Amino acid sequence: MPVKNRFAELLPEITAWRRDFHENPELLYDVHRTAGKVAELLREFGCDEVTEGIGQTGVVGVIKGKTDTKGRVVGLRADMDALPIIEQTGLEYASKTPGKMHACGHDGHTAMLLGAAKYLAETRNFDGTAIVIFQPAEEGGAGGEAMIKDGLAERWGINEFYGMHNMPGIPTGQFAIKPGAMMAAADQFEITVTGKGGHAAKPHECIDTTLTAAQIIVAVQSVVSRNIDPLKNAVVSVCVVQTDSTAHNVIPQVVTLKGTARSLAPEVRDQLQEGITRVATNIAAAMGASAEVDYQRGYPVTMNDDEATVWASDVAREIAGEVNLDMQPMMGGEDFSYMLNERPGAYIFVGNGDTAMVHHPAYNFNDDAIPAGSSWYAGMIEARMPAA
Ligand code: NI
Repeated sequence: MPVKNRFAELLPEITAWRRDFHENPELLYDVHRTAGKVAELLREFGCDEVTEGIGQTGVVGVIKGKTDTKGRVVGLRADMDALPIIEQTGLEYASKTPGKMHACGHDGHTAMLLGAAKYLAETRNFDGTAIVIFQPAEEGGAGGEAMIKDGLAERWGINEFYGMHNMPGIPTGQFAIKPGAMMAAADQFEITVTGKGGHAAKPHECIDTTLTAAQIIVAVQSVVSRNIDPLKNAVVSVCVVQTDSTAHNVIPQVVTLKGTARSLAPEVRDQLQEGITRVATNIAAAMGASAEVDYQRGYPVTMNDDEATVWASDVAREIAGEVNLDMQPMMGGEDFSYMLNERPGAYIFVGNGDTAMVHHPAYNFNDDAIPAGSSWYAGMIEARMPAA
């Protein structure tokens, strides 16, 4: 099976949906227009059930196969939200809302899953139930978690979850996947360093918060380089340094550091949290200052199930002829991880070709990837629940 022929026929229609979503980007949970259109289309396709408002603005569609002898239920997930970025693509269907942009291709994911839903509702050539899941707030709002907390897995009796993301740099319509960790746990931390502010000409009467913060910035890197097994993966980045002074001659009372800590294994995640906290508070103490560390755990590791990875890659190979199973995990985060923590499943990349990277103002989802992506979504249903 190369690309399903039906998707060559549906390509203009799916592309039109994609470009409409692109033109009308919405952020986080505020995806009312997008979700409304998704629900309307799912009803038009003849889905057996369409439910809105799961995880605030998520949409769930049910498509029953011709038969259901085994009671198997497979969930397919796409994300719907855009990013707060000023678009610089110059496209005729560029964002109509300045400062909002589909810069991660979620417009493409939503359109591809809609295409698969249309095909599955037409053909129903499977034995079981397909659930199509459209989630809000992937970009930092944990919409996937919100849908899980709303009972997604239990309410629809989902046995397995499959998700897909486009990836620039992979040839268009080709696939890449790996068993185990695909995407990182993405945590954030804020370190508040408090000293004693004062005149910069009299440092001996102050406790210098900027010098303390500078030492903390350097020293937290030792958590990665000295505390964590060099054969394991971790990254710590301090990205924000804020003081309560704007003067060149004032030692600030408070300095705030903000950053991110990423890992691919639970024990490494624990080590990062413990290490950053230990280093920051003790460096501050050594300098006579104090540091308070607020470490917030974000999206967990996106962990592909071994067997599900084989199933997902088999379907991808049938479509694309080959599949890259040797890819490196990525240190970005992905909230499909919450669904994979509930049920086995897999997350795959579909190639977006030689385009700007995701989250870049010149990025655009590649419509040429649609037939492969929609075929994979639909193919997962037919492969996991073959017609009786
Ligand atoms: Ni994304």
